[in-house]
Amino acid sequence: MDKYHLALKTAFASEYSFFLKAQNFHWNVEGPLFVQLHDLFGKIYEEVYDSIDTFAEELRALDTYTPASLQKFSMLSAVDDENSIPEWSQMLQELLADSDRMADIFKITFDLAEQNGDHGLADFLAGRQDAHKKHSWMLRATLK
Ligand SMILES: [Fe+2]
Repeated sequence: MDKYHLALKTAFASEYSFFLKAQNFHWNVEGPLFVQLHDLFGKIYEEVYDSIDTFAEELRALDTYTPASLQKFSMLSAVDDENSIPEWSQMLQELLADSDRMADIFKITFDLAEQNGDHGLADFLAGRQDAHKKHSWMLRATLK
């Protein structure tokens, strides 16, 4: 597999893992800010989830297969699974670090898509970078 397609598959697997982690925190968060954090994590996972199908179909349009199993996601993902239940502020810090990582991944894959002349895909990836910058802003602001 060429470097370009592998980078896109890594971005896709990472985005799916990020979605799952935000949903995990939406379900399992506890503490005095429960309602706020449950809602914030909920907004984030829903926004990311809504982008997943388009991303998968962009990969298929490049005539490459979309990774679509938990095993493949964990092999490819740059976002690590969270198997424990962190304290609420750790959840915010962890999801912030992952969202910043996703923004970087989309910055890099945008450049690759542009180099390959895939302008429609590049436009999608630019939108994902922007969405993660906004998620990072809200997570960072909640931590202050
Ligand atoms: Fe819910």
